[in-house]
Amino acid sequence: MKGLICYFSTTGNTKLACEHINSKIDKIEFDYYDITSSNEPNFSDYELFGFATFTDYFEPGKLMVRYMESIKGDGKPAFVFNTYGQMSGNTLGSMARAIKESGFKLIEAYSLHVPENYPPLI
Ligand SMILES: Cc1cc2nc3c(=O)[nH]c(=O)nc-3n(C[C@H](O)[C@H](O)[C@H](O)COP(=O)(O)O)c2cc1C
Repeated sequence: MKGLICYFSTTGNTKLACEHINSKIDKIEFDYYDITSSNEPNFSDYELFGFATFTDYFEPGKLMVRYMESIKGDGKPAFVFNTYGQMSGNTLGSMARAIKESGFKLIEAYSLHVPENYPPLI
């Protein structure tokens, strides 16, 4: 089975976590899609999706929200994932709502506490 992880990562925490998730899953071969790049993959090539971003003021990064709202899930399974420095707030809930509204079937959601990258708090 082929999967696609769509991620938004400014300093690399979320990207590194996605690579770790991929390394721990056996039967699914994941490709990655950096949503800030222009070469969007063909969604019909994939059966499982992941959406991953960092927490930006207690919410998902805004680019990721806009991206999730712009795509069509067609009932395919998807998980949502975020990294955060101190308080994740509404991040996971907002991501879950966005992908369900886009027509994906939500199968898992997880927030990972990682090192802070918000300059005033470092
Ligand atoms: C502008 C900005 C706002 C942030 N807001 C939050 C926040 O509200 N809560 C939190 O726990 N972490 C917050 N963080 C920390 C990041 O979510 C965290 O370090 C994340 O792992 C960064 O991921 P990345 O390296 O993939 O971009 C913020 C970071 C930045 C730069």
